[in-house]
Amino acid sequence: MSNEVRRAAEILRAGGLVAFPTETVYGLGADASSAKAMARLYEVKRRPAAHPVIVHFASAADAFQWAREVPQDAKSLAERYWPGPLTLILKRSDKAKDFVTGGQPSVGVRVPSHPIASELLKEFGRPIAAPSANRFGRVSPTTAAHVREDLGADVDLVLDGGPSEVGIESTIVDFSGGDAVILRPGGISAAELQIKSKARSSIRHSGGMEKHYAPKTPARLVATHELDQQISQLKTRAAVLAFSRPDERVDFWLRMPRDPAAYARKLYAALRELDGANCDAILIEAPPAQSGWEAVIDRLRKATA
Ligand code: TXA
Ligand code: MG
Repeated sequence: MSNEVRRAAEILRAGGLVAFPTETVYGLGADASSAKAMARLYEVKRRPAAHPVIVHFASAADAFQWAREVPQDAKSLAERYWPGPLTLILKRSDKAKDFVTGGQPSVGVRVPSHPIASELLKEFGRPIAAPSANRFGRVSPTTAAHVREDLGADVDLVLDGGPSEVGIESTIVDFSGGDAVILRPGGISAAELQIKSKARSSIRHSGGMEKHYAPKTPARLVATHELDQQISQLKTRAAVLAFSRPDERVDFWLRMPRDPAAYARKLYAALRELDGANCDAILIEAPPAQSGWEAVIDRLRKATA
């Protein structure tokens, strides 16, 4: 991989775009200090300029240079979970420009744990801004093939690090308003963090918008006790995502694991598969409303909004 990573760093230095694996999902990386590179990133991503992106660093010490102040609780979380699937929103220092923060007074920072991401960050030697490597509003990629499907020639290089281990995006904890608040549930559960989630934030963040992470086929969430009845009433070709065994009345059936981490790992690939099954509707069996399932339920809610 080293040669490829060296090439990737050169592309970033020249203002190009490199997709790279992280433990959560694949990121579309650009030089976070370059206005020109960031402009290209937003264009390819088709992301509105006011939506901030997460900046990735090789170490917590590097990350905290982009913050004006770092509360003790944020330092403790960083110590415990970095490198890993956690993003901290902090008051920004003057290193974080408007073109990464969407003009907000805060910046999102993260130290990823995937070995190729770490290698790239060290080789490049500077922070890398990286939203998920999909077009705005679509399902995030968890393999290099997903990235190529979505972005094609718009990305200069895709580093292949195999399927993402976590499978859904990082947990975002906002420290910019004083008390810690979870803005987006993710790789690390709210119960584990012991931090409250905020249903709706005043901060603009695309993960908080309705109809994000959505397949193109209309999809709906169905309670377990209603699944059988809903299937019996189907009038069109349907694809189903469920915990139980396939039902012969259904054209396309994917079975999911009953463990939330295993479910998360498979989720985005499953949504892409369901979308590709040429059906008119997608039915998704709702997971149990239990602790540990928050992030999966959040993504399913958005996929079916
Ligand atoms: O797991 C992840 O976080 C992946 C990988 C590639 O690291 N990245 C990711 O980035 O999910 P993206 O851009 O798709 O989602 C970033 C989320 C968005 O909801 C964004 O608006 C929010 O983080 N965000 C970033 N900076 C922010 C800030 N200053 N204030 C509030 N929200 C922020
Ligand atoms: Mg995204």
